[in-house]
Amino acid sequence: MFETRVLSGMRPTGALHLGHYHGVLKNWVKLQAEYPCLFFVADWHALTTDYEKPGALQDVGTDMVIDWLASGVDPNQATIFVQSLVPEHAELHLLLSMMTPLGWLERVPTYKDQQEKLADKDLTTYGFLGYPLLQAADIMIYRAKYVPVGEDQVPHIEFTRELARRFNHLYGREAGYEDKAKAAVKKMGSKKARLFNELRTKFLESGDGEALKRAQALLDEQQNIPRGDRERLYGWLEGSGRKILVEAEALLTEASKLTGLDGQKMSKSYGNAIGLREEPESVAKKIKTMPTDPARVKRTDPGTPEKCPVWNMHLVYSDEDRQKWVRKGCTTAGIGCLECKQPVIDAVLAELAPIRERAQAYLDDPTLVKNILADGCDKARALATETMREVREAMGLSYN
Ligand code: TRP
Ligand code: SF4
Repeated sequence: MFETRVLSGMRPTGALHLGHYHGVLKNWVKLQAEYPCLFFVADWHALTTDYEKPGALQDVGTDMVIDWLASGVDPNQATIFVQSLVPEHAELHLLLSMMTPLGWLERVPTYKDQQEKLADKDLTTYGFLGYPLLQAADIMIYRAKYVPVGEDQVPHIEFTRELARRFNHLYGREAGYEDKAKAAVKKMGSKKARLFNELRTKFLESGDGEALKRAQALLDEQQNIPRGDRERLYGWLEGSGRKILVEAEALLTEASKLTGLDGQKMSKSYGNAIGLREEPESVAKKIKTMPTDPARVKRTDPGTPEKCPVWNMHLVYSDEDRQKWVRKGCTTAGIGCLECKQPVIDAVLAELAPIRERAQAYLDDPTLVKNILADGCDKARALATETMREVREAMGLSYN
């Protein structure tokens, strides 16, 4: 339905690390070539948990965008912007809040989870409870179809879908909906209109999914029918109201195989991360000193790769031959751990070198990022404005 947009956001946490690169950014780079993508700095989201000490979010956010760009996110392919510079997100959040049952928010699993995990923070605020709703607004304001996120975020996307359905159900049945829909069908031309009506009846009377798909495909082709009419028809086809807001789907990002220096998930707060812009000497030192299989006390003690975090890195950075070399050398004590680590060091440095270089260009000339964000915000805002016009109208708020 309409353009298949992809949207994702990231909270500003400052300089990113290799976990972000393998877990998120490489996926964004792939997606930007396949779909129209929107990627944004979720700075308001940072305030939902860190309102007491927000820090300089504009600097932290800009720094994060530099890492996106350095990793290959391309402003000529994707729209890169900052949430708080598109205030329409807040308007949609407000309007949706009127129809969002409190119970839905309280039942989102992250609500209780985070309160327990982040016990040192005050999360008994209105803003924190409303966090998933703000995320839903972020997504729906661009009518995004796919949202690449990790497993933990899937309930938020489910919540977003439920809200879209509720919204369309409540506000998609405008006065004279049936008549308007029937008039819209006629705009397809008599032959296609007849086919569409037949398929619709088939679906509504016998639940024929194939007929539904064919009718939707028929609608997809009708690019010259006005958007409002198409929204009506997509909804009318299924026996529901006009589809003003799109039901988004999670595009589950596979968890990165790359773990931190200690074998745990890589995270800045665990102190086990390698920064994307870290100096090569520091990177080499971190890998040289990272723990290995504790059974290999002496050089002559054989080890088990599965018990060693260096092995996880070989799984990401080494081909089959080198993995065989590691397995044989480790289990027979044929190689030492430093020897085993060297190819990993080389591979990580080779991966980071172009990233560091690209980042440097943006650090040297801060106007580059400023312009990219200004341009991205303009584009995002134009899309957001279009959705808001329809949302206001549907809720009885169009004063023009
Ligand atoms: N909640 C997400 C996170 O913590 C960030 C986010 C905010 C987001 N708004 C979004 C992700 C919209 C996808 C779509 O990681
Ligand atoms: Fe780990 Fe390699 Fe040492 Fe084996 S040889 S314990 S895989 S670093």
